[in-house]
Amino acid sequence: MKNLAVAGTGYVGLVTGVCMAENGHNVTCVDIDEQKVITMREGTSPIYEAGLEELMRKNIEAGRLHFTIDYQTAYKEADAVFIGVGTPEKEDGSADLQYVETVAKQIAESVAKDCLVVIKSTVPIGTNDKIEELINDSLVNNVRVEVASNPEFLAQGSAVKDTLEAARIVIGTESEWAENLLTEIYTPFYLPIVSVNRRSAEMIKYASNDFLALKISYMNDIANLCELVGADIQDVAKGMSYDDRIGSKFLNAGIGYGGSCFPKDTSALEFLARQYGYDLRTMQATIKINSEQKLKLYEKAKKRLATFDGIKVAVLGLTFKPGTDDLREAPSLANVPLLLEQGADIYAYDPIGVDNFKQFYSEGSHGQGNITYVGSPEDALEGATACLIFTEWGEIKAVTPKQYKDLMQTPLVFDGRNIYDVQEMADSGVEYHSIGRPVSSI
Ligand code: UDX
Repeated sequence: MKNLAVAGTGYVGLVTGVCMAENGHNVTCVDIDEQKVITMREGTSPIYEAGLEELMRKNIEAGRLHFTIDYQTAYKEADAVFIGVGTPEKEDGSADLQYVETVAKQIAESVAKDCLVVIKSTVPIGTNDKIEELINDSLVNNVRVEVASNPEFLAQGSAVKDTLEAARIVIGTESEWAENLLTEIYTPFYLPIVSVNRRSAEMIKYASNDFLALKISYMNDIANLCELVGADIQDVAKGMSYDDRIGSKFLNAGIGYGGSCFPKDTSALEFLARQYGYDLRTMQATIKINSEQKLKLYEKAKKRLATFDGIKVAVLGLTFKPGTDDLREAPSLANVPLLLEQGADIYAYDPIGVDNFKQFYSEGSHGQGNITYVGSPEDALEGATACLIFTEWGEIKAVTPKQYKDLMQTPLVFDGRNIYDVQEMADSGVEYHSIGRPVSSI
């Protein structure tokens, strides 16, 4: 059992802290937001994540999980401090390291015994070296501090499972001491450990995320071509998936990737490459395809309807993917303003994301358009002229083709997630437009 501190209680930090406690370590999670800390102490999670609160409560009760704003006490006696604060994208596409640097300085002024600083946040290659230098330059006590890279690969909605049952733990260290300590911390997880140097670990994170983003953009690119040549992207993906060099995951064409990682990490690596005088063409193409893909649904609907003025539009799904309330880079946020601008009367449904979406678009009128939030897909569809599907929530997938036909004024559906079978929609009398597949004619 080690004494661990975790800086930052966002997705990465909180899930790391809870899972470390679950594996027997004594963990103190540090955040600057006092109100948030008080709530977490009671076992309430600030983020929606399956299974997280249950584990929080269990480990708080067991006395292994603590929350505080007092970073000095938390870092002072820690064997290791995990940094899980955000590295948001700056305007120029680079990663903003100010939060990581602030924590590094706080660690330097607090640690009173040898300590390993573990960077879990996604940071540009070379950052671990810089942070180690920064800490050692401002250390108050005469102790040994080293930095290790330990990127996380958790996806929102399955963060706890992805951490406790990760495919691999990547650790990047520059000394045997650091490697042994981090390996010891992860021993109770019983997971494969890939031990490399710090720069390779930093690159593994970007290369993994960006490869997945590339895979999605590739499928979207092929989907657009499928529409032109009369092929069906879902059949194409199925045919590809049997080849285990390709694999069956991340082959779903749609309206592009969103979320807190892929958009940020593709831009950051492209930016980093340019700094080194290298044109990372795969990422340039990935980013361009994705930003164009996000508007595909709006463009299809606009072409079909000519105008949205005064038209009742059902919007199903707002979050960037199911299982989360996160709206970061969600395609809905790119499409809804265009619909409103053109005078659409939107009835929007999302099982979890509505409160967050209201912070961008409150209920009521916005210019020529109007938005009303409803509690079920059926309420959104009632009397609508068109329906746009942005997220494949289970609640939305449960709507049957017949319900679109029965509830809508005109059964016209634009599906950005390829939820339905084209033929079934046609058989139910629904005009159905999806991504990379034929249009159902009725
Ligand atoms: C991702 C990575 O999966 C995770 O390993 C990393 O640590 C953080 O980034 P996340 O952003 O939570 O996780 O979601 P993910 O499930 O990967 O989906 C990202 C986006 O890609 C979503 O918008 C999703 O709709 C889209 N997507 C995914 C597709 O469009 N097609 C697919 O086949 C898969």
